Amino acid sequence: MHKIVIVGAGRVGEAAAHNLAKAELAREIVLIDVKDGVPQGVALDIQESAPIFGFDTKLTGHTDLAALKDADLVIVTAGIPRAPGMSRSDVLDTNLAVVYGVVDKMLVLAPDAMLLMVTNPVDVLTYAAWKRTGWDRRRVFGMAGVLDSARMASFVALETGFSAKDITAMVLGGHGDAMVPMPRFTTIHGISIEHFLPQDKIASIIQRTRDGGAEILGLRKTASAYDTPAAAIARMVDAISCDRRQILPGVAALDGEYGERDICMGVPIVLGEQGMERVIELPLTAEEQGQFKKSVASVRADIARLKQ
Ligand code: 2OP
Repeated sequence: MHKIVIVGAGRVGEAAAHNLAKAELAREIVLIDVKDGVPQGVALDIQESAPIFGFDTKLTGHTDLAALKDADLVIVTAGIPRAPGMSRSDVLDTNLAVVYGVVDKMLVLAPDAMLLMVTNPVDVLTYAAWKRTGWDRRRVFGMAGVLDSARMASFVALETGFSAKDITAMVLGGHGDAMVPMPRFTTIHGISIEHFLPQDKIASIIQRTRDGGAEILGLRKTASAYDTPAAAIARMVDAISCDRRQILPGVAALDGEYGERDICMGVPIVLGEQGMERVIELPLTAEEQGQFKKSVASVRADIARLKQ
């Protein structure tokens, strides 16, 4: 890709920019933030690491959304974060205004771009952004499942002592308390975790995964997670930039898959240079189906708030 724009130069935006630059996933990375000096300082700080890490990506920082011009990919991390005790939905109203501001400028300045939403509540804001663009669903998607499944895989690695490199986890549904970690599709070198862990351990890994964001926020008190969210962003951008056609969990607009439409939810998607190429529909058990529908109901309740 030629130009990636990251809107929001907070911790997630900064760490994502550094990951993308180190991997040379674009020739140019632009950071935009409302706080004058911050995006410029972040961009320069990362740029100065180029001789050490050995990358030629150029970074600049701006306060004006005019810098969206001709972006190939826009990543939106801007918005207010959760404070302890707040749900992801509590931040909806403020962040919706931020997202609409970015989308309206994109429609004029980067009409051929793809949009990767990160700001919470990510399922609802991906839906709001997708509707506002009127674009094909392949071009608007969100990051949550790569983060949630990385957390789940890490907890499996910690519990079993096996290499994290061999563990693949799958988390479906909304990025909220009703997310659906899928032990049946979580494996250690292809072997189901059910072979290694008793049901009570799996149940506690599922709960810890659901609480993963809150656990970090509770420990840090004034900041949400950013290292793993930024790594998850880089994983998704790599799949697009290198046209890997990789299966990753991501937030996508559903068009009949899982019996749903007119909603954005976490599902396995195929990511490549065209963006979200397709949704993979997994056969769910009655219990998994029930959990998925509960998560759908929670995302739909927030979408209903958008329409008020
Ligand atoms: C997380 O899960 C804040 O949603 C973010 O860490």
